[in-house]
Amino acid sequence: MSKPLEGIKIIDFTHVQAGPACTQLLAWFGADVIKVERPGSGDVTRTQLRDIPDVDALYFTMLNSNKKSLTLDTKKPEGKEVLEKLIKESDVMVENFGPGALDRMGFPWQYIKELNPKMILASVKGFSDGHHYDDLKVYENVAQCAGGAASTTGFWDGPPTISAAALGDSNTGMHLAIGILTALIGRDKTGKGQKVAVSMQDSVLNLCRVKLRDQQRLDRLGYLEEYPQYPHGEFSDVVPRGGNAGGGGQPGWVLKCKGWETDPNSYIYFTIQGHAWAPICRAIGKPEWIEDANYNTATARQPHIFDIFKTIEEWLADKTKFEAVDILRKFDIPCAPVLTMKELANDPSLRESGTITEVAHKERGSYLTVGSPIKFSDMKPEITASPLLGEHTDEVLESLGYSSAQIANLHQQQAV
Ligand code: COA
Repeated sequence: MSKPLEGIKIIDFTHVQAGPACTQLLAWFGADVIKVERPGSGDVTRTQLRDIPDVDALYFTMLNSNKKSLTLDTKKPEGKEVLEKLIKESDVMVENFGPGALDRMGFPWQYIKELNPKMILASVKGFSDGHHYDDLKVYENVAQCAGGAASTTGFWDGPPTISAAALGDSNTGMHLAIGILTALIGRDKTGKGQKVAVSMQDSVLNLCRVKLRDQQRLDRLGYLEEYPQYPHGEFSDVVPRGGNAGGGGQPGWVLKCKGWETDPNSYIYFTIQGHAWAPICRAIGKPEWIEDANYNTATARQPHIFDIFKTIEEWLADKTKFEAVDILRKFDIPCAPVLTMKELANDPSLRESGTITEVAHKERGSYLTVGSPIKFSDMKPEITASPLLGEHTDEVLESLGYSSAQIANLHQQQAV
């Protein structure tokens, strides 16, 4: 089956998570992604958090599937020459080095553009160009703090909290992928490439859009009606941490189910949709609340919303999280069990859809990874193993016209 991005050649000059997540996605959809790595060591995630000695870590294999690996010291003249050749032949170059690293290497955007005016250079940095922190190196949690996620996540009586979801890293990579695809479509119209830049701070903030909404509402009103602090608690002049409150117009909370005393994940998320009040009352055995003026509007419920949640927890006390959801789904109530990584890894539906998929790797055997979360009617991305360090060096050099003797010479000059 031909894939939409077949024929698009990408120089993948990325490492760690933000950049690799982007190029991996493009590789799944058919792009020819050549990961350029430093000889001897490669992407640092190859060795980070290893679970098997001397074998590429899952951190690397789960972010670099479907790619080729070319080892090249691009600070040495012969490595630079190879990179120049690659730039001339490629459509996109993606990088997420620290600020200024590409310029110091001798490849500023101006020069890349001279080598190939059709090139799209896609960059991830912690902060956007010209930002007063644009000299900073940034990792995931730094971005979550800088982008507004940490100050608004967690409980009001605890410190700012980091989300387990990679809002700074993979999320930024996904933004970058959208930018690259947009620039490719733009290039079809103009014949010209361009630089696409995404900062981790901006990408986190984009996902915290509703919290900026809340800041403006707070500035105007002095309170936020959907937060647990309302109406009995205190608001300051900044958006508070809202615990597990729903971020939209319907209140919700994480509620205990049967076995919560010993199982830390025996919970469901329960949402109280305004228009679903009657089915909720019927589901939890409180039909008398349907018409009760203390309960039958969102405004009436809000002052004692936690008492309502407590009553629902009493109803949940003899039901597992799965049993509870099986009942509530019949009443059309938005809810889900709190699922563990173990449950997700073994979820038959996720296996069936390819969202959790098993990949065979030359050295580590098979491992689980997250496949494409994007589903197409006419294409099913096939996830293949990540490359070994330098696995495709000779193949790529041959494709650039290097002879066997030149390749052998290059290996010698590039030796660490
Ligand atoms: N050949 C020769 N040199 C190479 C090379 C290669 N193939 N690949 C990388 N290098 C060099 C770089 O040119 C850079 O050189 P210099 O800074 O000495 O001029 C050096 O390796 C280190 O690169 P850098 O990216 O700064 O690595 P780091 O480990 O110090 O920092 C990050 C890591 C992630 C903090 C930093 O890259 C960063 O802030 N990136 C932008 C934001 C980002 O993507 N964060 C990570 C999200 S997962």
